Amino acid sequence: MDLLIKGGKVVTAKSTFKADVAVTNGKISAIGTNLKPDAGTEVVDAKGKLVLPGAIDGHTHMAMPFGGTISTDDYFTGTRAAACGGTTTIINFETQPVGVKMSKFLKEKLDLAESQGPAVDYSIHMGVGDVTTQEMLDDMAKVVDMGVTSFKVFMVYDFGVDDGQFYATLCKAKEIGALVGVHAENKNVNDYLVKKYLSEKKISPWYHYMSKNEAVAGEADERAINLAKMAGAPLYIVHLDNAQGVAAVAKARAEGYPIFAETCPQYLYFTKEVYKDGRPEFKLRPQDFVCSPPMKGKESKDALWDGIRNGVVSTLSTDHCPFLKKEKDWGKKTKDGKKGNFTTIPNGCAGVENMYPFILSEANKGKITFNKAVEIASTNQAKLFGMDYCKGAIEVGLDADIVVYDPKRKVVINNNKNQHGALDHTVWEGVECKGYPCAVFSHGKLVFDGKDFVGEQGAGKFVKQKKVHHKGPSF
Ligand code: URP
Ligand code: ZN
Ligand code: ZN
Repeated sequence: MDLLIKGGKVVTAKSTFKADVAVTNGKISAIGTNLKPDAGTEVVDAKGKLVLPGAIDGHTHMAMPFGGTISTDDYFTGTRAAACGGTTTIINFETQPVGVKMSKFLKEKLDLAESQGPAVDYSIHMGVGDVTTQEMLDDMAKVVDMGVTSFKVFMVYDFGVDDGQFYATLCKAKEIGALVGVHAENKNVNDYLVKKYLSEKKISPWYHYMSKNEAVAGEADERAINLAKMAGAPLYIVHLDNAQGVAAVAKARAEGYPIFAETCPQYLYFTKEVYKDGRPEFKLRPQDFVCSPPMKGKESKDALWDGIRNGVVSTLSTDHCPFLKKEKDWGKKTKDGKKGNFTTIPNGCAGVENMYPFILSEANKGKITFNKAVEIASTNQAKLFGMDYCKGAIEVGLDADIVVYDPKRKVVINNNKNQHGALDHTVWEGVECKGYPCAVFSHGKLVFDGKDFVGEQGAGKFVKQKKVHHKGPSF
């Protein structure tokens, strides 16, 4: 026994119980009362603390070329930040360029990730950028063989799919044991509104929200679900942000369809008001909140919380996609010195370090149970993405990715003092967390000591996803 976490309260998706947790060779080797350490076993006193599985952030964009630049965090700095917030696995999006086979592209990205040295484990979702030929579509099977069984299609952006390509991707995924995620927004209406607002000289970040409003997202959520039903395939709606979409997912699930939804902390905490004023008390400007899709109104925020409580929303992830303040300013003056507007702001915000502390804090305040927080931030991610053979729970045989959480500790997010990514600001500045991780272990090794990153660059490994065949709404 290498490590013994003693006297804490273990929280799983289903139950909470007092137990010691033993770790041997990076795996959880025993869970029980009064476990005795061997000579040389490191003992961690967890009295008064919760013992949780490390979170899985199923939606990050590290080192991603986007909006004329590259997201600020790479596989190392992003996973360092993740570790310090109790997230011990990330699933990073890599989007296939037009004309390049996904399997070739995946190999390049796995090499890139290894070269940057992730601090904790990582996996990859394959962004679908080109399924215009049968050969490209058939190549998805090779990606599955390489350990990536999750794909994401985009209904917006230049590289997005049309409905026919989306349908074909769903059919292929079903055949090969994969899950398709979707960024659902109505491209044509979004494009129309962008043109209209720009022609009316409405160029501020507020019009980013207006052109990607509730209806633009909700219509696409409904259409995506219809396409999945037509294909008889499971579907995962990423970054769900609106009440209409929540209702559509609820209906499809009640009918027995394998439709799943993810939301993100920003949709549970902020509203569209940030595009008017920002958060000036923390020197955050409206452009700092420009992400895609944008935050919506209070009705949507409340519907998402209800969706979490009643099981309609299955997972919480961040969509971590950080850009520097000077890049966010491209909405005023572009990179090339031209007049900017809301479409020239790189889309994305940071959050990988904040997700678990945020949702656990909300649980600590009574908004949801700790079990629910664990379920949506870890267990369901592992199940959905074929990683539950090694991740997502405090269970004998699984990787010892463990968070010791102090429910009494208060931490106020301060980018200069207690954040560990590469970004020069965070939209989470000033947010108070009631409770915070005091120790985080990845494969039984301490990576966060409650204050600093104490792990190793390059210690994180690629996690292969098993094939998945989700047949209904529950696991
Ligand atoms: O604003 C974001 N989230 N940028 C990343 C791309 C996406 O659609 O997830
Ligand atoms: Zn997206
Ligand atoms: Zn994203």
